[in-house]
Parts: sequence; C-alpha cells; structure tokens
Amino acid sequence: MQRIKMSERVSYIGVNDRRLALFENMWPLPKGVSYNSYIIDDEKVVLIDTVERSKIEEFIENIKSIIGERPVDYLIVNHMEPDHSGGIAALSREYPNMKIVGNAKTFEMLKNFYFLESNLHEVKDGDSLEIGHHKLQFYTAPMVHWPETMLTYDETEKILFSSDAFGSFGALNGALFDDEIDLTYYENEMRRYYSNIVGKYGAMVQKAMKKLSDVEIKMVAPAHGPVWRSNLDYLLDKYDKWSKYETEEGVVIVYGTMYGNTEKMADVIARELIEQGIRNVKVYDASKTHMSYIISDLFKYKGFIVGSCAYNTAMFPTVEHLLKEIELFGVKNHLLGIFGSYAWSGGGVKNLQKFAENIKWDMVHEPSEFKGALKAENEVEAKEIAKAMADKLKSLRA
Ligand code: FEO
Repeated sequence: MQRIKMSERVSYIGVNDRRLALFENMWPLPKGVSYNSYIIDDEKVVLIDTVERSKIEEFIENIKSIIGERPVDYLIVNHMEPDHSGGIAALSREYPNMKIVGNAKTFEMLKNFYFLESNLHEVKDGDSLEIGHHKLQFYTAPMVHWPETMLTYDETEKILFSSDAFGSFGALNGALFDDEIDLTYYENEMRRYYSNIVGKYGAMVQKAMKKLSDVEIKMVAPAHGPVWRSNLDYLLDKYDKWSKYETEEGVVIVYGTMYGNTEKMADVIARELIEQGIRNVKVYDASKTHMSYIISDLFKYKGFIVGSCAYNTAMFPTVEHLLKEIELFGVKNHLLGIFGSYAWSGGGVKNLQKFAENIKWDMVHEPSEFKGALKAENEVEAKEIAKAMADKLKSLRA
C-alpha cells in the first residue's frame, strides 16, 4: 500500500471494499465503502480501529508497511460493530502483547463477539493516554452508533478520530482528504450513511457535538470515507442540521403501484408542485429505488408525499417497509401528504393514515383516494394536495 500520511507520525491504513453489495446486508454499496483505520507511529505504536474481517490480510500488510516488524502496543477500539472490530481477534494473534483500549461496554462486547478478555486497558469518558509525543483523549459517544461508541482525540495534532460520525459510503478512489474529492458526491453518500445508519440517534449526535464544542479540531478522521481537514465548517454544519432534522425546501414523493394508476397521481402532484414554484421535487417508485436513497432525501427535504395502491387490504409492501423504517428512525419535523388508489375495498390509504397518526407530522391536506383509473376529479384533488404542500413550504421561507 502506498502510505498516506496525515502528519509526520499519523497515517491512514484503512482498506476499500468494492466487492460487498450490501452494507449490514441491507444498504446498497454501488460505489463500495472504506473501512478506515489509522496508525500513530510514536514511542508506542497505536492503531485506531481495525477493518472488516474479510480484509484482515491487507490490513496487516498495511500496518507492516509502516512499522515493519515492530510490535503494535495499543489498539483503540472506538466502535465494536464488526465492520471495524472484525480484525481484532486476528490482530491480537499477530500482536499478542497488544493492549486493547476501550470502555466497559466495549469490553463486554469484545467478550461476547470474540471471546477476548485479556490485555485490556479500560478508559472512561475524559481519560487520556500518553504514547510519547502524542497524547490521546477519549470521549464516550453512546449511540453514535452503538452504546459503546467512543471518539478519540489526538491532543497533539488536533485530530478527532470520530468513528461512524462524519462517515460516508463510497470507497476512497485514491483521494483521502476532503480537498481531494468531489464534495457533492460525498455529501450525498455521507447523508445516505448518516440518515440510514446513525439517523435514529440525532439527539445523541447533538450531545456528542456539544461535548466536543470547546475542543480545537484541525482534522476529522472518521471510520468510513474521506478525512476532513479543509471544509470543517461545512462538515459540522451539515451534521448539526441533519441531527436536528433541519431540512431544505423540497418534496420527496414516493409511491407504490402495480399497474401505474397510483403513479399517475404522483406525477400530477409533482407537476403541480413545480407549477407552484417548488423546485426540489424528487419522485420515487418504492419498488425500484432502494429505501436508503429515499430516506437520505427525506433528511434533506421538508415535504413528504406518499401514495399507495391497496394490496391484500393493506399498503403496497414496498411502501409499508419504507414507512416502517421511517417510523423506527423517529424522523421529525416534516410536512406530509398522502394519496392512493384501490380496485374494490381499499387498504392503501387507510393504512397510510395509520402511519400519519403514528409519525405525527403536519398533514397539509386531506388524503385523496381513487378507484381504478385516475379521473379528472382525482387530478383536481391531487393538485390540491400539491398546492397545500407548496403553500406550507412557501410560508416557511425566510
Ligand atoms: Fe461503521 Fe456502526 O459501524
């Protein structure tokens, strides 16, 4: 591996995974993912996190390309999800005297996942570790993304090793730093990562950001995706907004349809939104577009209009699945519209209304439901939903 230096003694030693199709066996990775790990080559050799277990050989090669046959003294485990902890057992065999640094919750998981109970160095929130020139400080950040998650701050170089926070989907394509990449591409993949992986824990992200608000940060080194050193305000601003469910003007329209009738109403709504002066309008077929992209857009835009045909007296299954995830994530602060169609006794809109009751977003208009094909009077109702949504959005303009 070609060494990527972040400073004189800190280097990137992570790996790309372009083979994995689904992260957590659920989230599509059309452009791969990186498992980031870092090495501090000081009086003591310290690693921050490992990689997914399929990549352990490459990872150990990366380590040895920097320290040769010197041993690793400490492995800091910021996060125990196996995309980062998968290499711990193999690394412990390679470096039997290596101390594993984590908190009490880390060690409980370490025992449960990997049967490891020795060579542990326990730290608590605010503890530090001197390794020579560098001094490292640990901040617990529960539920960003698991209960044991912690962040490691290099006081000497002002680098925050931020675990899943500020991470992104997308393998690293030669570039490591934010000033070497296409920011728009990574912003979208970072939001897709945030919203689907960490998005349920917005309040905990806010808590972690407050804890670090007085800490001087020159570089943010997450567990996935680019390392940030030039656009830190941009990065922190995005995360602050997403974790507070602050959104932009725009509408996500999603529908479930078998033969295109419900889709027709979605298209009428979309056109009317444009006529009413709304520009960011995204229309998705829930059977075609993976929900991770829809949820990502939901974290960006204020309006959400969802339609479903009836299917065995229920919602269309792909819409139902999406809405169940949205409810589970506890997404807040949105405007909602609902619509649908049926052939005989219905079930789509009736169940969409249950979603509306549970999620407690601001319903902009009564639901519209039609039988069979879309007729002129149904188009009128569709336009009314669109106009009500547009009016609400425009009333929020500064
Ligand atoms: Fe990248 Fe929660 O693991």
